[in-house]
Amino acid sequence: MSANTSARYCVIGGSGAIGSALMKSLSAQRIEAIASTRRQPVDRQNEFYLDLGADLPELSFSARDVVVLTASMTRLAECRLEPELARRVNVDAQVLIAEQAVKKGAFVVFLSTNQVFDGTKSGVGPDEPRSPRSVYGKLKAEAESALSRLGDSVAIVRLSKVVGPHLDLFQRWRRELSRGETIEAFDDLLLAPIAMAKVVAGVELIGLRRLGGVWHLGGSDEISYLQAGRHLACLLGADARLVVSASAAKAGIPVEERPPRVSMAPGNLETAIGVRIGDALEELDIGLGFADWTRTDICSRSGEIIPQAM
Ligand SMILES: NC(=O)c1ccc[n+]([C@@H]2O[C@H](COP(=O)([O-])OP(=O)(O)OC[C@H]3O[C@@H](n4cnc5c(N)ncnc54)[C@H](OP(=O)(O)O)[C@@H]3O)[C@@H](O)[C@H]2O)c1
Repeated sequence: MSANTSARYCVIGGSGAIGSALMKSLSAQRIEAIASTRRQPVDRQNEFYLDLGADLPELSFSARDVVVLTASMTRLAECRLEPELARRVNVDAQVLIAEQAVKKGAFVVFLSTNQVFDGTKSGVGPDEPRSPRSVYGKLKAEAESALSRLGDSVAIVRLSKVVGPHLDLFQRWRRELSRGETIEAFDDLLLAPIAMAKVVAGVELIGLRRLGGVWHLGGSDEISYLQAGRHLACLLGADARLVVSASAAKAGIPVEERPPRVSMAPGNLETAIGVRIGDALEELDIGLGFADWTRTDICSRSGEIIPQAM
């Protein structure tokens, strides 16, 4: 499938974390792009109003469009508590928009998740069978099934935890650690980080080159939030003992929302688009803006505390 050099990106959900990063990147490259938003007033020329929970209008797509479906109910608890609305937003609306787009010759990129797997295996590949356990994962898997019936004009891009400046948790941890305060981090909840910059680049390239099929644009290495917190403390020069172990199970996160394994194998991602996914700490460093920092020898690769020589 050849690249569309005069592509226009249509980002559904331009005010979300990934949607806004994508819009910023496209704008910096002077690539034409429009985005949907629910925020009022819609006063910029490259925005239009769209609520995926309401009746959908007919959208005006054309053959040069790359439609990126980023809008979604992304909180697992929200999907669990409001499953009907979540189905409308995360499945029905996605499929309707994709059908409209494909009918006009546009290419569609749908953002999915590692949560379509059951979390019993690390490094799960793009072709392995799905077996979601959370409501969020089940809805994403349902959307994937419907969208894959639209053929080569659709790319399903499964992401793991995207790390960037948007993450409130890491920003709060950073502030608190910098003040010498303790933070609590789950040791029974894993993440397979991937830096936001790589997600944006990957989505742009998959869309531009119209690479249909299933892609794993996610971390192939997993660590606990406790390890991530301790690594952050190391990066900040804070005492890693400020990072106290906590339990997601005891905090009430249901078992199906804390899979024991979360990493994905990238398949032929690097060959296809030249995006290499690093190990968990490398992705964290890039995502959190520490990429240029050289790690000191008090930061172990596993995030364990190594006592600093006095
Ligand atoms: N970030 C990750 O770590 C990650 C990991 C795996 C998969 N993903 C997938 O990647 C996509 C983007 O994630 P994200 O992190 O950018 O999510 P996000 O920051 O939570 O943004 C979600 C976006 O969806 C919009 N939205 C929610 N309900 C809507 C509705 N009823 N109508 C219209 N728009 C609605 C939000 O609009 P408002 O701003 O108006 O609320 C927002 O723009 C999602 O499909 C998510 O499932 C993300």
